Amino acid sequence: MNLQFLSAIFTLFILSAASSAEVPCPRPNSTLPTSNYADLHRPKHFEVKSGLNYSYIYAEAQVNRPTFLLLHGFPSSVFDWRYQINDLTDAGYGVIAPDLLGYGHTDKPTDVNDCCDWGSGLPNKLAMFYPNFFSSYVFVSVPYSPGAFDLDAINQQTEAIFGYPAFGYMKFFNETKAAEVLDQNIESSLSLVYPRVPERWQTDLCPYGTAEEWIRKERFDPLPPWESEHDREYRVRMFREGGFAAPLNWYKSNIRNIDAEDVAKVPPENIVLNKPVLFIGGDQDYATRIEIMQQVAKAGKESFLPDVEVKTVEGTSHWLLLEKPREVFVLLDGFARKLGQNVTDYKMP
Ligand SMILES: *[C@@H]1O[C@H](CO)[C@@H](O)[C@H](O)[C@H]1NC(C)=O
Ligand SMILES: *[C@@H]1O[C@H](CO)[C@@H](O)[C@H](O)[C@H]1NC(C)=O
Ligand SMILES: *[C@@H]1O[C@H](CO)[C@@H](O)[C@H](O)[C@H]1NC(C)=O
Ligand SMILES: *[C@@H]1O[C@H](CO)[C@@H](O)[C@H](O)[C@H]1NC(C)=O
Repeated sequence: MNLQFLSAIFTLFILSAASSAEVPCPRPNSTLPTSNYADLHRPKHFEVKSGLNYSYIYAEAQVNRPTFLLLHGFPSSVFDWRYQINDLTDAGYGVIAPDLLGYGHTDKPTDVNDCCDWGSGLPNKLAMFYPNFFSSYVFVSVPYSPGAFDLDAINQQTEAIFGYPAFGYMKFFNETKAAEVLDQNIESSLSLVYPRVPERWQTDLCPYGTAEEWIRKERFDPLPPWESEHDREYRVRMFREGGFAAPLNWYKSNIRNIDAEDVAKVPPENIVLNKPVLFIGGDQDYATRIEIMQQVAKAGKESFLPDVEVKTVEGTSHWLLLEKPREVFVLLDGFARKLGQNVTDYKMP
């Protein structure tokens, strides 16, 4: 199989919410609007060597078009890529979009060590361990940042800069009780994570203790304008069936740097992401703030990100894939076209 890879990443950590949408495209409900959806949405299955069973959507690229590997974050699934899957395949790009471990129709191991190779930022690790696998990278909402994850340090830094710890909720997500608390209040959990107004994160998700309080008290906001009842019901069903224990392992393995030994063996030259990189962020993301993305890009230019550019999708939060899919497509398509002549064929091993 001759594949050209372009990897688009919507990574870990979490999300944010809605707001004004001067979106020029029609906004359907959860369903993908065009005819190819029916075919695409028949997920395939693949069992990896360890025995874990993955579900994924695959659409073959048209000649000379690259393929996007779409990796979702918490608490998403392939569902949150639905607009991009539709737009990219309509434009002739190939798509591989898995439900990652713990989500959707993929297996849900509850042992933290099962996530060990991929703990923090799956694409980060893919880039370090397999530097020639992808021709380029797009990071949506969460930047590439190599190195160990120090949650307490990040919280202290962001508190000093923004007045609140950006990842306070991760202290809770790292606790054993978190899965049970979220499982018992799924609607409330999703209402906080996909909130009606982005500022909800600043007051009720990010500061220490507020996420747990919100969920335990079963607080609830109306749906954001970009999410239908039908969409929300789909999410609730997914977690009623699958639970939060396995998805939360992504945080636990990341926060505990469970793969530190493997990462220590990565040669320094692999830490440098020597490929074209695009960061896309929303200016109303109160957790993974655009300022952090800009700072990582700026610092990285001199060291581990020689070829990076940052694009802001105005008026969006962490959930910009859902809020302004048209704008996202234009960025992805523009990036792929610009790279077109340089993308080299890659033979799968
Ligand atoms: C949106 O959902 C409503 C109610 O479930 C349904 O009647 C309508 O056909 C849906 N629209 C689209 C574009 O799927
Ligand atoms: C993987 O899961 C799917 C859906 O549950 C199932 O149909 C398939 O048989 C499973 N494959 C393996 C190898 O377990
Ligand atoms: C995460 O949980 C582990 C296990 O309970 C604990 O040792 C560690 O200190 C926690 N990390 C943070 C940053 O709170
Ligand atoms: C494509 O390759 C040419 C020649 O190696 C280089 O000058 C150019 O910067 C590359 N373009 C991109 C978008 O990477």
